[in-house]
Amino acid sequence: MLDHLKANNLAWSRRKVASDPDFFRRLVRQQTPEYLWIGCADSRVPANEIVGLDPGELFVHRNVGNLAPPQDANYLSVLQFAVDVLKVKHVIVVGHYGCGGVSAAVDGKRRGLVDHWLHPIREIRHEHRAELDAIADERARLDRLCELNVARQVRNVASDVFVQDAWARGQPLCVHGWVYSLTDGLVRDLDLTVCGPGDAGPR
Ligand code: CO
Repeated sequence: MLDHLKANNLAWSRRKVASDPDFFRRLVRQQTPEYLWIGCADSRVPANEIVGLDPGELFVHRNVGNLAPPQDANYLSVLQFAVDVLKVKHVIVVGHYGCGGVSAAVDGKRRGLVDHWLHPIREIRHEHRAELDAIADERARLDRLCELNVARQVRNVASDVFVQDAWARGQPLCVHGWVYSLTDGLVRDLDLTVCGPGDAGPR
């Protein structure tokens, strides 16, 4: 079963070795990514491919709605390993327009467990209700919610104790917020970057 995937894998591995015979030997010894990507699980947002990075160059955490919940052991384990061990220089929270997680959070339909997972997005919608209600077009309103969600997750990351402690010991680390557009394949920097405790912290 899945023979086409195995065939793709074989071809990919051979291409890699053909263009760089040491490629896999180097990766086995060490991974030294400079970036942690926190993105949506959506299949249309493939992290490495979007930013043109090879295996070993991007540490990736993906979940539904690109959330960084301060009580989620999965995300926190990834963040601590990335910051404390890999010493990544950048954490990039990447949302995307047309996010099914974001629209599912606020469409009022019940889906089960995922409704609990998406609860933080409903909180964000509630906190920004006035701004969002003023946007007449539904698609534009949801896209704005995608941006507000990225902003919240950037603050979650920047205010996390692992990140605060890294800054306290002088480790260079910036947290960024981007949003990806499915329609043109481009990322947009939301200018939320924080690179130190002076411009971070719970707000
Ligand atoms: Co999504």
